Formats: sequence, C-alpha cells, structure tokens
Amino acid sequence: MMEADHEDGSYDRNKELKLFDETKAGVKGLVDAGLTKLPKIFVHDNHKVNDSSSSSSSSATNVSIPVIDLGSLHEEGNSRHEIVQKVKDAGEKWGFFQVVNHKIPQSILDEMLDGVRKFHEQDAEVKKEFYSRDITKRVFYNTNFNFYTTSEVNWRDTLYCLLAPGPLDPHQLPSICRDVIIEYLDHIKKLALTLLELLSEALGLEGNYLKDIDCGEGIFMVGNYYPPCPQPELTWGLSSHTDLGFVTILLQDQVGGLQVFHENQWFDITPFPGAFIVNLGDMMQLITNDKFMSAKHRVVAQKVGPRVSVSCSLRQHVQDECLRMYGPIKELVTKENPPIYKEMKMPDLVKLVYTTKLDYDISSPLKHFRL
Ligand code: OGA
Ligand code: NI
Repeated sequence: MMEADHEDGSYDRNKELKLFDETKAGVKGLVDAGLTKLPKIFVHDNHKVNDSSSSSSSSATNVSIPVIDLGSLHEEGNSRHEIVQKVKDAGEKWGFFQVVNHKIPQSILDEMLDGVRKFHEQDAEVKKEFYSRDITKRVFYNTNFNFYTTSEVNWRDTLYCLLAPGPLDPHQLPSICRDVIIEYLDHIKKLALTLLELLSEALGLEGNYLKDIDCGEGIFMVGNYYPPCPQPELTWGLSSHTDLGFVTILLQDQVGGLQVFHENQWFDITPFPGAFIVNLGDMMQLITNDKFMSAKHRVVAQKVGPRVSVSCSLRQHVQDECLRMYGPIKELVTKENPPIYKEMKMPDLVKLVYTTKLDYDISSPLKHFRL
C-alpha cells in the first residue's frame, strides 16, 4: 500500500484502491497479514460513530424492532389477522421486523452462516478465482460492490450469488458452501412467499398480489464477512444505506453490530437466536407509494470478529430479462394520495446504486424516480 503514498503526505487514492483490489485477498487478506493500522482508503473523512445523533439508545429504552411470531399462522381463529396487523404496523413505522417460529431448522441457519464463513476463510488462492467486479456474473466475491464509486470503503468482504430467476448452474457456486446454499434457498423461497402474502394482505390487497407482480422472482444472496477491525472508530462495517429490492431476509450471527435508523435515532438490532430480520427495500417503498418504508441501516466495525451475515434480497438484477415496469400500485393510489413515483424498471435502480456516489444521510436513491 505504501507505494501510493507521496513524500509530501498526499496520496493517490485511485492507485491505492487499485493496489488493494488487485490483491484479490479482500479485507480478510489485510487481517491475515497482521495489519494493525487501517490503510487510508478505509478511513472515513467524517466518521460519525461517536456523534450523539447516532448513538444507539435501544439498550437504554428497551425499544426494539417488532418481533413477529409466524408459529400460529395456520391456526384457526384471529391469529392470521393479528399477524397481518403487526406486519402492517412494522412496515409503516420501521420498515424492519424479526420473524420467529418460521419452521426453518436451526441447523440450516447455523450451516448457512458457517458455509459463508468457510468461503471467506478458505485457501486464498482458491478464493481469488471468485474475485470480480463484473456485476453481470451470477456468482462472485469482492470487497464492497461500490468500491470505486463510494468515498467510504467499508471493512467487509462479500460473496454474491444471484440464485433466481434461473437457470442457476450449481457448479458456479463455490464448492465449499454449494450444498448448503441450495438447501437454504429452498427454505428461503417458501418463507419469501409467506412474507409476500402477509405484506400483500397488510396493504389491503389479495394475498397473491405481490407474488403475481413478480416481487419474489429474483433472489440475490449476499454473504457478508466482517473481519475483526484494529481501528473500528475510523470506519464502518457497512455504511448507512437502504436495500434496493422489495424485501430482504437477513440472517445474522451472534456478534451484533447491525443498527436501524428509526425516528431520528439509531437502534441496535440485537441478535436473537433463530430469528430472521426482515426489512423492506426501496422497490417496496416505490410500489406502495411511501406507505411502507425502506429504512436506513448500517453495521458498525468492531474489534471482535469475524461477524457473518447472509442476506437474501427479493430483487431483480441487471439481466436483460428484468424488463417489468414498476410504479405505485394502482389500488393504493387515490385522488387524495396520488402517485409519487414514475414507472421504472428495476435494473435502472440497480445501475444507479452500483454506479453513483450516494450519500444516504442526505437523500435516497428513490428521489431519482419521483414524479
Ligand atoms: C446488507 C445488509 C446487514 C448485515 O447486506 O444490505 O444490510 O447485518 N447487511 O450484514
Ligand atoms: Ni442492507
């Protein structure tokens, strides 16, 4: 890294980015090399972790994102109605909730987190083969998808797998976690359909509405690996952002560090064994005409680690077949509540987020699609 430092103290950031990227070893590679000081590219200009506006108060107030128990979903009585009400409330007020009693065995959750950890901890030479910045690939890994466009490079490596729509050739998946990804996907597809049904009903629509407009067609899996960070006060694990899809189903391990922005404050999302975190993305906010919200969230960098998370976003990607037009759902707009957004195709949003420098503290990518 030092090659990019000039004697007068200035440095060639682009060159330093490139040198790091070319190692194809990720942040994990820096940690393995025994690094104790962060390279400049990871040091954020205005790091706000210690700002009072961003300190988490959830432990003080005991407020946390809603927990929704899916266990009674198919029982007789009012329980379905109650669950739908809770989903509606969570979608409107938080954009985030946790689900428990989802019937996916704990062993699959543990194996999935373990599979992602193993991918990132495998032999560096094998892992290098997957390193890429070609977003048209179905399976690849790198450090920060927006590495060259953001001003905040984060302390995180990520494995990306476009699992649906097909055709997924299992041999493209890394052999070290191939079987568990396939098994996990099977379970996630069912949970996704349940969530889309509940969200449809929470919007006052027919249960199959969101499925029928293909909100569940695309599944983009992301396996995040946050190595221990020697100077966590200087950087982020994942900067403040919103997810761009319809719905994200997130599995986190027990390390913690995820926070959500709610009513002008950051709240910790404390790990809850066996739970999935569900959050709504920009596309959901767009099609619901701001009825449901896509909430900002972030992950702090920490001395402890690694931390592993697996998120499955129901979203389409950049492939040519994603040509469906989306705009505010007709049934949800009225004279008093006219459409806020124009009709758009999902790849327009994906490309915007991947190629533009965005500051989520100032605005949302959705502003580009406002009427
Ligand atoms: C994401 C995300 C949170 C986490 O991948 O978009 O917000 O806990 N991940 O890793
Ligand atoms: Ni996210």
